[in-house]
Amino acid sequence: MNLEETFGSSYQRVIGQGVGITERGQSFFTRFYEIFFNKSEKIPEKFKNTDMDQQVHMLQKGMYQLITFYLLKTDSDQLQAIAKSHDKLHLDIEPELYDVWLASLLQTVEELDPEYHAELRLAWEVVMTPGILYLKYHYDN
Ligand code: HEM
Repeated sequence: MNLEETFGSSYQRVIGQGVGITERGQSFFTRFYEIFFNKSEKIPEKFKNTDMDQQVHMLQKGMYQLITFYLLKTDSDQLQAIAKSHDKLHLDIEPELYDVWLASLLQTVEELDPEYHAELRLAWEVVMTPGILYLKYHYDN
């Protein structure tokens, strides 16, 4: 398996190309938040003052930062800013919430990618994990 190709083609099927939000991307992220919000009461509580239409765009940009971190292994200014806004002193996103985030993302991919299979899940996990570890690390560092 070529991990990057497997991930890349799945990403295109469920979200589309580039950073602009497509109709497919909009449905993907909307479904993601439905799943994510139902996993723990703590989650909707965190977003109680958030404009969720706007948040869909934010998440796509954020995911792009995770992909870039996986590819380049260097933290961009944008990734540093996400780490800071999510840390203990700001949004206070506890590390275990990132596991819920990833589980929700994988569940969304499984639902929406017609070509979903086990290795494709692995490809998404491998690409997302370095950035998630980075954000967890910066919770209180
Ligand atoms: C690796 C996964 C994640 C990425 C890439 C990500 C990305 C982002 C981005 C780009 C923003 C907007 C800009 C900013 O505030 O920095 C944001 C805001 C936010 N995120 Fe995350 N996030 C992630 C995980 C989480 C998790 C696990 C939670 C837990 C509930 C969370 C809760 C929030 C909240 C509450 C906001 C603020 C919304 C507002 O402005 O009202 N995020 N996130």
